[in-house]
Amino acid sequence: MQARQARIETVLAATLPAADVPPARLHHAMRYAVLGGGKRVRPLLAYAAGEIVRADPARVDRAAAAVELIHAYSLVHDDLPCMDDDVLRRGKPTVHVQYDEATALLVGDSLQSLAFETISRAPLADAPDTQHEMSGLLAHATGSRGMAGGQAVDLASLGRSLSLPELEFMHGHKTGALIRAAILLGARCGNGFDTVAEALERFAQRIGLAFQVVDDVLDATETSATLGKTAGKDARLNKPTYVSVLGAEAARRFADELLADALAALEPLGAGGSRLSQLGRYIVERKS
Ligand code: IPE
Ligand code: IPE
Ligand code: MG
Ligand code: MG
Ligand code: MG
Repeated sequence: MQARQARIETVLAATLPAADVPPARLHHAMRYAVLGGGKRVRPLLAYAAGEIVRADPARVDRAAAAVELIHAYSLVHDDLPCMDDDVLRRGKPTVHVQYDEATALLVGDSLQSLAFETISRAPLADAPDTQHEMSGLLAHATGSRGMAGGQAVDLASLGRSLSLPELEFMHGHKTGALIRAAILLGARCGNGFDTVAEALERFAQRIGLAFQVVDDVLDATETSATLGKTAGKDARLNKPTYVSVLGAEAARRFADELLADALAALEPLGAGGSRLSQLGRYIVERKS
């Protein structure tokens, strides 16, 4: 994990405009938002999925970077006063606190554009059609029928209580969609995607949902110092989460069930799926 985290750090640092390129304040803030923090779970998933189909790691670098840029953008906007109004992210002041709100908005916009520039510029697949599909997949996962749509449901749900299907819809969109994209894009960088598609789809669906269930649990059970972001935020904002609906213990058990199902999905892949299953365990067992 550490080697891959270091690798994606280098790729991201090279992908982002240098901090002294005008407009320097914006570029400085983009680098502040992306570099030197975060678990890099989505890139790790992309590398692990790519490995199953022997994808060229240099191609996976770019797919993984594109997904992490979208993720970083989503965090910058998620922390804005008009959304979750958070002051701490990855152990540092949030972008709108360190810079200003307009800059944070533009950082998000620019990271999103840079993600699509990154995924579309150089060849990621042997067939041009596959590459077009990859851009479309990332776009779909990011927009109103994916992550941004999930964020809309999240904000519309403050103070309401949601049913379990509604919660699953919200979490599957705001968080699950991009995790699925990371896994499928990693695998699309290689050949033989069709032979692993079904297993990866099922794994991605379960582990993407589990990721946000665990995020809800950690928000309620860990400290801000451990998380590097403000703990207890969901309760304070009166957000419906798996913890508010099921309680922390039952939410944990649900995450464990999702993990078991995710790991079962990988069985047909044999030893090839072992790194993905390790990451699945990490996602559910992590403490931050
Ligand atoms: C936090 O994501 C936001 C969610 C989608 C739950 P991560 O827990 O992956 O945050 P970083 O990238 O490690 O900071
Ligand atoms: C964030 O969910 C999901 C996205 C950023 C798309 P949260 O609002 O729970 O994430 P944290 O807890 O602030 O990291
Ligand atoms: Mg949020
Ligand atoms: Mg938040
Ligand atoms: Mg959260």
